[in-house]
Amino acid sequence: MIIQKTENSRISSFDPENYSFGDHFTDHMIICEYENGAWGEAKLMPYGPLPFSPSNMAFNYGQACFEGMKAYKDSSDEVYLFRVNKNFERINKSAKRLAMPEIPEEVFVGGLKALMDIDRAWIPTGEGKSLYIRPLIFATEEGLKARVSNKYMFAIVAAPATSYYSAPVSVKISDYYSRAASGGVGFAKAAGNYAASFYPTQLANDEGYEQIIWTDDSTHEYFEESGTMNVFVRIGNTIYTPPTSEKILDGVTRDSFITLAKHKGIDVRVEPIAVKDVLAAQKDGSLKEIWGVGTAVVTTAFKSYGYQGENFELPVLSEEESFALSLKKALVDIQTNAAEDPFGWREKV
Ligand code: COI
Repeated sequence: MIIQKTENSRISSFDPENYSFGDHFTDHMIICEYENGAWGEAKLMPYGPLPFSPSNMAFNYGQACFEGMKAYKDSSDEVYLFRVNKNFERINKSAKRLAMPEIPEEVFVGGLKALMDIDRAWIPTGEGKSLYIRPLIFATEEGLKARVSNKYMFAIVAAPATSYYSAPVSVKISDYYSRAASGGVGFAKAAGNYAASFYPTQLANDEGYEQIIWTDDSTHEYFEESGTMNVFVRIGNTIYTPPTSEKILDGVTRDSFITLAKHKGIDVRVEPIAVKDVLAAQKDGSLKEIWGVGTAVVTTAFKSYGYQGENFELPVLSEEESFALSLKKALVDIQTNAAEDPFGWREKV
C-alpha cells in the first residue's frame, strides 16, 4: 500500500462533545483504482476531494454501492472492528449485482485496518459514540453510453458517529411506495436504493412521520424494512423479523440481533410479518415493540406508527422491559469490549 500521511491533522478542530453523525471526516482516506481489468495498489492519503467530471458514469447511471461499518474504542483505548468479513462479503455481492468488479480481500480489509490505525485518535468514546466507516465502490469512467463502466474506484472514508436519532421515532407503514422490487437490487447496498427512498420519506415527513416501514411492492401487506434499517416486531414475548430475500438487505446488525436474542433464550421467528397481524396485535394489546436496526443507528425504537390515515401508539418500555433496548446494550457491550464476545465478532486493530 502506498502511504501518504497528512502534515496538517484537523483533529484539533473536532469537538468530540459537539458533532452530529457523519458531518466530520478523519484525516485520511483509502483509495484504490480499477482499470484494464485489474485493481491497482491501494493508497492511504489525506482525506479530500477528488477530480471527477459530470460525465462520470457513476453520476449518470448509478453504478455505486457502499458498506456501513463501525470502529470502537474500549476503556483502555484499544480499537476494535466488528464482523468485518460480513461487510467484505456483502460489498462484493452488491458489486456483482451492479456489474462492478469485486474488491480483493487484502484491499478491503488491509485498507480498513490501515485507516483505523492511522486515524485512531478520531474514534470517539462514550455513550453511543464510535467511528462510522464507509467503504464504497463507484464507476469512474467518463461516457454517456448506458453501459458498464471500465474504470472504478474503491474508497474508504470515516466519520465520527453519535446517535443517529435522538429519540424514538414515528413511522408510516407504506401502502403505496416500495423500497425494492422482485428481481431488483433491494438486497444490495446500491446507492440508488437510498436515492429512491428519499421522495417517499419526504412525503411521510410532511405528514409528521420520521421514517417509513417499507412493505412489499406487490401487495403492501408485508413488512420489509424500515427507513434505512431492517425491522423487528415484538408480539408478546416473541420477536419477528422478515427473512432476507432479493428485496431485503442481509443486515449485519439484524443478524447479530437474531443471534443475541436466541442466545438470551428469546423466541425469535424469522418469518414474514403481515400488517394485518400487527394491527390485530395492537388491538388485543399484545403488540409490545417495533424497532429498526442498522449499523448507523444500532437500534431505533418506534414510538408510534401510522397506517392508512390512522395513528397507533406503542407502549413506552424501560431498558429492562424492552427487548430492543436490552439487545442493543448487549450488542454495544460486545462491540466496545465491555462484555465477553462468545461469537468471535470483535477484532482488535
Ligand atoms: C448503515 O446503517 O450503515 C447504513 O448504511 C445506513 C446509512 C444510510 C446511514
